[in-house]
Amino acid sequence: MIVEKKEIILKDGIKAILRSARDEDIPGMLEYLYISAGETDFILRYPEECGKYTAEGEKELFDRVNASDNEAMIVCLVDGKVAGNCQIVWKTGIKTRHRAQVAIALLKEFWNLGIGTAMFTEMIDIVRSNPDIIQMELEFIEGNTRARALYEKMGFRITGVKPNAIRLKDGTLLNEYQMVRKM
Ligand SMILES: CC(C)(COP(=O)(O)OP(=O)(O)OC[C@H]1O[C@@H](n2cnc3c(N)ncnc32)[C@H](O)[C@@H]1OP(=O)(O)O)[C@@H](O)C(=O)NCCC(=O)NCCS
Repeated sequence: MIVEKKEIILKDGIKAILRSARDEDIPGMLEYLYISAGETDFILRYPEECGKYTAEGEKELFDRVNASDNEAMIVCLVDGKVAGNCQIVWKTGIKTRHRAQVAIALLKEFWNLGIGTAMFTEMIDIVRSNPDIIQMELEFIEGNTRARALYEKMGFRITGVKPNAIRLKDGTLLNEYQMVRKM
């Protein structure tokens, strides 16, 4: 699904663009994937696991998602730099097509500027245009208070916990919380 370009103003007054990913974003996306992996324990990859991301793979992903009827990716660009992205995908099976799964991450330099709020507003709009979807779902890792605050502000509530879902390199075990937003 294509998400048309939209300009937003961040909390610091700087302009940012939200839109579907394009081929020109591939180098910025690869850099974002690698750098963000080393900036927080709250996403699922470590930097050394980012070798699997390639320009060809990103192009295939962008092409597939942009052509899909049940998936969208929104990138945020600030001064032409990829600040982060979010993805929404919903199932197509009769028993599960009422559920949309979302995920989001930004480079640290762009946290707390309102990008997450703007991205969720867009994803909620996408869901509203599909009457089959009655709930949005996501997960966050124990301790991610910023993400939790954003998700609660956007109407999500905790519905469950998976104990010890994450094990960091130093052996620390962290729970993963599931959240749902009813439409
Ligand atoms: C989580 C993330 C996507 C949020 O996006 P963001 O653009 O920083 O979020 P916003 O600026 O729109 O909103 C954050 C909200 O949390 C609040 N907040 C920030 N730090 C907080 C904290 N430590 N505790 C509670 N609330 C906090 C902010 O005040 C803001 O609320 P407000 O708009 O009502 O003032 C982003 O910080 C990020 O990419 N983090 C690293 C990767 C990650 O954790 N991804 C999510 C995986 S589940």
